[in-house]
Amino acid sequence: MEKIIIFDTTLRDGEQSPGASLNNKKKLEIAKQLETLGVDIIEAGFPVSSPGDFQAVKMVAREIKKAGVCGLARAVKADIDAAYNAVKYARRPRLHVFLATSEIHMRYKLKKAESEILKASAWAVKYAKRKLEDIEFSPEDASRTNKKFLYKVLEAVIDAGATTVNIPDTVGYSTPYEFGSLIKGIKENVPNIHKAVISVHCHNDLGLAVSNSLAAVLNGARQVECTINGLGERAGNASLEETVMSLTTRSDIFEFGTSIKTKEIYKTSRLVSKLTGISVQPNKAIVGANAFAHEAGIHQDGLLKERRTYEIMKPQDVGFEETKIVLGKHSGRHGLKARLKKLGYTLTDKELDKAFLRFKKLADKKKEVFDEDLATIVEDEISAIPEIYKLVSFYVSSGNKVTPNASVTLKHKSKDLKADSTGDGPVDACYKAIEKITGMRPTLLGYNLNAVTAGKDALGEVSVRMKAGKSVVNGRGASTDVIEASLKAYLNALNKAKALGKK
Ligand code: KIV
Ligand code: ZN
Repeated sequence: MEKIIIFDTTLRDGEQSPGASLNNKKKLEIAKQLETLGVDIIEAGFPVSSPGDFQAVKMVAREIKKAGVCGLARAVKADIDAAYNAVKYARRPRLHVFLATSEIHMRYKLKKAESEILKASAWAVKYAKRKLEDIEFSPEDASRTNKKFLYKVLEAVIDAGATTVNIPDTVGYSTPYEFGSLIKGIKENVPNIHKAVISVHCHNDLGLAVSNSLAAVLNGARQVECTINGLGERAGNASLEETVMSLTTRSDIFEFGTSIKTKEIYKTSRLVSKLTGISVQPNKAIVGANAFAHEAGIHQDGLLKERRTYEIMKPQDVGFEETKIVLGKHSGRHGLKARLKKLGYTLTDKELDKAFLRFKKLADKKKEVFDEDLATIVEDEISAIPEIYKLVSFYVSSGNKVTPNASVTLKHKSKDLKADSTGDGPVDACYKAIEKITGMRPTLLGYNLNAVTAGKDALGEVSVRMKAGKSVVNGRGASTDVIEASLKAYLNALNKAKALGKK
């Protein structure tokens, strides 16, 4: 199987992402992980750009043993010298020289004619070649360059010794068919192209960086330049994880291998996100938090029956632990049952019905129902305590200038019993109303309120401890409303006491 060379530029183009800045220690940590991931070449920086970048490239070159290490340089002596002095320590050093070739860049940015650019490109590659064998040349803004001129430049730099010619879609302007045709045209029109590897470097301004890279591969490119999490100038570069997983998952279309250990992808993505401070959007392909998460009941049901119904890759293949079944308002009974089973609860059908109703009510109130919520629901709802008194409804009024007042209705032997009471606070007023209805006068020994889950819409869990007669009983109740949770906890304890004959 032919191999696609994976050239990672997270530390160079990726670091050019607005907002991303890496110190040398962080760069080295990422470089080591990139090596573990199995990238073929690490572009570690642009040595002439700052003394810090020079040191970072030098450090990476010294430490990295398997991957090649590359330094970027403009087509001028000082840049090439700096890049060489930084990468020369690497086991497999590479110099990457670039010069813009598009009409717009030559006229406005460089203010140079085609002939001058052609001469400078060939000169720079020749000069670099005197220092190193492995030379890459990029005609910057190649996708907007006049094709005949582009062919001439490529021929000249290959003659001068370039071993890789990289075709950048610098401003992410190209489209897959067009970019694929550009590579095909280069293969057909540059006479010495067989002496160099064709590489591509696509930016994502139109969201087409990965598609353009893949189209290029189908037309003869054998190196793809990419970054972890798609970092890079503006909208970023082709993402390594998307490129590699496309090649792997669609091996029916792309008959190529890569040296990437895909199980390291997620870890690498997390590390880069942590060290650059640039978070990964949840719906990002391959590495986003939702990439293997399913919420819809229909999807969860399908998945639980056969994973491939809704998953084209195994989460474990890119380093996720497992598929995530998110329990929310779109989830169904099958998803709930499977999760409860995983948590160790095997419910009867009737109990599951009850739990499902309660779950749906909660899911309507909060976005995601967590395992802790479910445990509370099951223990609260599916307990063996007979509900001698059951909460029907309650009303409380409270404030810092009024006496708290509560009106509580309980069901007892299929009758609704109602009582009103004032109290020191809304919970106290509710408890006093309950005492009026039940005639029970327990001593409250303890009251505890905990947010079981995080966020403003967290499920509150109240536990109470009371002395009823000679014995002490505990009660628990949960709700997103803390007064309701308090009432449920009190009733739970009273029902226990009543069931046990302790009044
Ligand atoms: O986008 C670009 O053209 C580049 C070159 C330096 C290869 O990053
Ligand atoms: Zn770039």
